[in-house]
Amino acid sequence: MFKKLSALVLALPLVLAIPEKRALPAQCAKLVPVVEDLLENLFENQCGDAAHGALRLVFHDAIGISPIVGGGGADGSIITFNATELTFDANDGLDDVLATVGPFFLEHQNVISPGDFVQLAGALSLAACPGAPRVQFFAGRPPPKAASPNFLVPEPFNTTDQIIERFASVGFSPPEIIALLSSHSIAGADTVDPTIPGTPFDSTPSVYDTNIFIEVLLRGTLFPGTAGNQGEVETAVAGTLRLESDFELARDPRTACVWQEFALNQPLMADRFAPALFKLSLLGQNINRLTDCSSLIPQPPALKDAPEFPPGQNLGDIQQSCPTTRFPDLPTQPGPPLDVSPIPQADTSDDS
Ligand SMILES: *[C@@H]1O[C@H](CO)[C@@H](O)[C@H](O)[C@H]1NC(C)=O
Ligand SMILES: *[C@@H]1O[C@H](CO)[C@@H](O)[C@H](O)[C@H]1NC(C)=O
Repeated sequence: MFKKLSALVLALPLVLAIPEKRALPAQCAKLVPVVEDLLENLFENQCGDAAHGALRLVFHDAIGISPIVGGGGADGSIITFNATELTFDANDGLDDVLATVGPFFLEHQNVISPGDFVQLAGALSLAACPGAPRVQFFAGRPPPKAASPNFLVPEPFNTTDQIIERFASVGFSPPEIIALLSSHSIAGADTVDPTIPGTPFDSTPSVYDTNIFIEVLLRGTLFPGTAGNQGEVETAVAGTLRLESDFELARDPRTACVWQEFALNQPLMADRFAPALFKLSLLGQNINRLTDCSSLIPQPPALKDAPEFPPGQNLGDIQQSCPTTRFPDLPTQPGPPLDVSPIPQADTSDDS
């Protein structure tokens, strides 16, 4: 497993080729220096903490819209109105992300709007994540008008009813929610248990694989840090943190079968993630006023990886949840039980 990963990582630089400027519409060509700066100096060509943060920012910016209380959606308000939005409980921990990402926006704000910047950084954040899909990027979002109202970003302690209802109000079906949640394959929590920042949600936070969907279905037995944190339940793999909302959605009859499908089918998970993330990037925006700059986004490296149970676990540890199809048997990864390392934290002092 480990060998396989390092081979993939070494192959990366070949993949990150940016198309020739002259083949691009002017609105896209002017973004080429932004793309190069983000890939090289923010993400450092890695699927690490800075990339995970940029992807999280997409979601927390875009979901800030509601047919009832308003908000501008994918408008970059989380950057411009950070003084308001970063005080929302659901945006806890995003101060670190903005400290890392914000200087890159300020550096390039003469050529890119805050809304475009959030979405461009999010699409590019996948570039070094093996197995991730290439996501479309459209440019031309006007500057945000106001901060998003509070309580629009779902929290890990919200019920599945609340989460499904919140997403439904902006046009996302339960399977689309799970597709978006596949981002937890390349993510971790900094503040759910504040004693252990950078604790990943699955055993392979630098690879967009199905482990998140397999591991969250395993019977939980331990907390990686302290017990009793709001929004956290016991995990099955030492060193990983399980969100209560992930646990519940994996077991809710409305979402359990698509959850299981993704657990068993990495290409399907990637295929569904790309359009769902693109749809998120258009919330509150009129696509007819935007320009397709998708060719700025590199194809992430491929992943050849069959689903497996983590070392020491087997089908007996799976909590069967899809009412119509049983979870099938899978091979178990060889070796001693995992103790997953924290995600090395991005250096917020480096804005070069
Ligand atoms: C965050 O908001 C403050 C104003 O409250 C602004 O000065 C700063 O530039 C914002 N950060 C970014 C990265 O835009
Ligand atoms: C999440 O739960 C809190 C506390 O009960 C509530 O105020 C908030 O509206 C909920 N969020 C969503 C998106 O339903």
